[in-house]
Amino acid sequence: MLGVCYYPEHWPERFWAEDARRMRDLGIAYVRIGEFAWSRLEPSRGDWRWDWMDRAFAVLSGAGLGIVLGTPTATPPKWLIDEFPEVVPVGEDGRQRGFGSRRHYTFSSEVYRRESARIVEALAKRYGDHPGLVGWQTDNEYGCHDTVLSWGTVDLAAFRSWLRRRYQTPEMLNDAWGAVFWSMEVGSFEEISLPNLTVTEANPAARLDFRRFASEEVRAYNRMQVEIIRRHSPGRWITHNFMGFFNEFDHFDVGEDIDLASWDSYPIGFVERFPFSDEERARWHDTSHPDIAPFHHDLYRAVGRGRFWVMEQQPGPVNWAPYNPVPAPGMVRLWTLEAHAHGGEVVSYFRWRQAPWGQEQMHAGLNLPSLQELSPGGHEARQAALDLAALGPLPPARRAAVALVYDYTAAWVCQIQPQGASFNYVELAFRWYEALRRLGLDIDIVRPGAPLDGYRLVVVPSLPIVTDAAASALAAATGQVLYGPRTASKTRNFSIPDGLPPAALRDLLPLRVTEVSSLRPGLGATVSGTISGSAERWIEHIESDAEPLSVFADGRPAIVSRGRHTYVGFWPDLATSASLMRHAAARADLAILELPEAVRLRRLDDLCFAFNYGPEAWQAPFAGRPVLGANPVPPRSVTAWRAGPSGDAMS
Ligand code: GAL
Repeated sequence: MLGVCYYPEHWPERFWAEDARRMRDLGIAYVRIGEFAWSRLEPSRGDWRWDWMDRAFAVLSGAGLGIVLGTPTATPPKWLIDEFPEVVPVGEDGRQRGFGSRRHYTFSSEVYRRESARIVEALAKRYGDHPGLVGWQTDNEYGCHDTVLSWGTVDLAAFRSWLRRRYQTPEMLNDAWGAVFWSMEVGSFEEISLPNLTVTEANPAARLDFRRFASEEVRAYNRMQVEIIRRHSPGRWITHNFMGFFNEFDHFDVGEDIDLASWDSYPIGFVERFPFSDEERARWHDTSHPDIAPFHHDLYRAVGRGRFWVMEQQPGPVNWAPYNPVPAPGMVRLWTLEAHAHGGEVVSYFRWRQAPWGQEQMHAGLNLPSLQELSPGGHEARQAALDLAALGPLPPARRAAVALVYDYTAAWVCQIQPQGASFNYVELAFRWYEALRRLGLDIDIVRPGAPLDGYRLVVVPSLPIVTDAAASALAAATGQVLYGPRTASKTRNFSIPDGLPPAALRDLLPLRVTEVSSLRPGLGATVSGTISGSAERWIEHIESDAEPLSVFADGRPAIVSRGRHTYVGFWPDLATSASLMRHAAARADLAILELPEAVRLRRLDDLCFAFNYGPEAWQAPFAGRPVLGANPVPPRSVTAWRAGPSGDAMS
């Protein structure tokens, strides 16, 4: 189904009814409103202006649209900031950030939590049981514009309390952090400072704790809003709109407190955000890379415990990337259908109409600025609505045969202590995902500790800190498990484990990592054996009694396997990643289909979709009539047909 983001406060009221009617005509069922409207709802303290919002509710729901109401806490108004300047976050450089855009608050401000609770409660009481209201979005994009971490006095006070709760005594903290190193020991929690503005690198355990603390602050802030909404708005679901390639807090934790996840999909903008080569950036500049949106659909399906929406879908060029091409014709429709094929319930476009003023005036909408006239993206949304109607209700996303374990803490550990400048956790996870999808496989992304039994193949691109829950789940896996470098390389307190890595998985992996070598770009090492190829960026020195699957040129083990568990002690280049995944799929007895670089498949029960991001048609391997589209699959288009049950590529 389709939705759209709408800002009634941006348009003359005489537009509203016509807008609502045209939304329905286009095939749109849901409208999200309100998430930045604080200054119009409460222009000064306590001066509530519900009249316009009441009328917007009446017009939109009167037209048959289901309303998703956003809480407006991402944009505290000027009067609030003047009254409480301390809610504004402080940058890592120690300077206070300013009013004048959005997200100008720190999660640790008690004052801001109180103020947020006040407006959320007022909204929830006013609209919580409105018949047109279907659900809520808390705030908007937690952490956007680098706002998870704040480095001010309120943050320091909250961090100290958090540490006191975690460690009880300064001695325990000193011990956990290894604070004897460089005489960092403290005699009381009041002596703790934030890990910024240090002369050189701050203690990694302290930095990791600061990240954990900040992540929990986001969760606590969100939970505050959720609890208020639940009290006053029974029967309505709650979501938050998460972002792409964003790892600054643990989304799985926040996901536990909401009913469904949603995320904001700007596939072309994200091409500039991922460390692709220049050549790849050029190739995908107006279509996006074919795994960017799917990776996030699969991630947020896990965050939402099976349920997700795309809350904001790119409808044309955006304004915020270094380069903002117009999407190639067909892509807005393709992305829309693709989200549904990954189990997305609704794709909601950002935004109904391009704003002619303000920071986002160069950002497309479904309509041209100030007009009742569809943009090219608007026309594609109409086509997507027709396609979805023709397909009818889609089967739910069922368990895939392959799981990829994704860990936010892993991202933090590798950022805090890269050891090699090019060791980027998210990049590794994405490249392994890409290599699996090039084999035509469907993937579930799962959090560490999630049950793994039943998956034929589990890949763990890297998991430096293995919790007890994660270790048990891995031990109980019933399929093949493939581990990448740095797995089990740290304790929870960010130190090298007794007995050397991968200590926490020693029962599964018969090896020790004694040293690691990180490599400059352009350097590499040859790997040969069952899997042959090249290592780049990162090479581990492995000792093992087991017969290695592959070795480096000097005979040292590169890949070691015992039973179902296989450890890869290096960063594989792209071709070697592909070989690794092919080998793993074969061991897991998965049927694969090697796909061209621009084509991907995805199944919902017996319905198989092919998505062609490329400029050339692709012949899909089925006979008979497609249920959607054509075979060959035209460029930048989608074809769906009835195939075997989901799981293997071609069964
Ligand atoms: C999102 C945000 C929207 C809008 C959009 C533009 O990050 O949630 O409010 O700014 O980007 O692409």
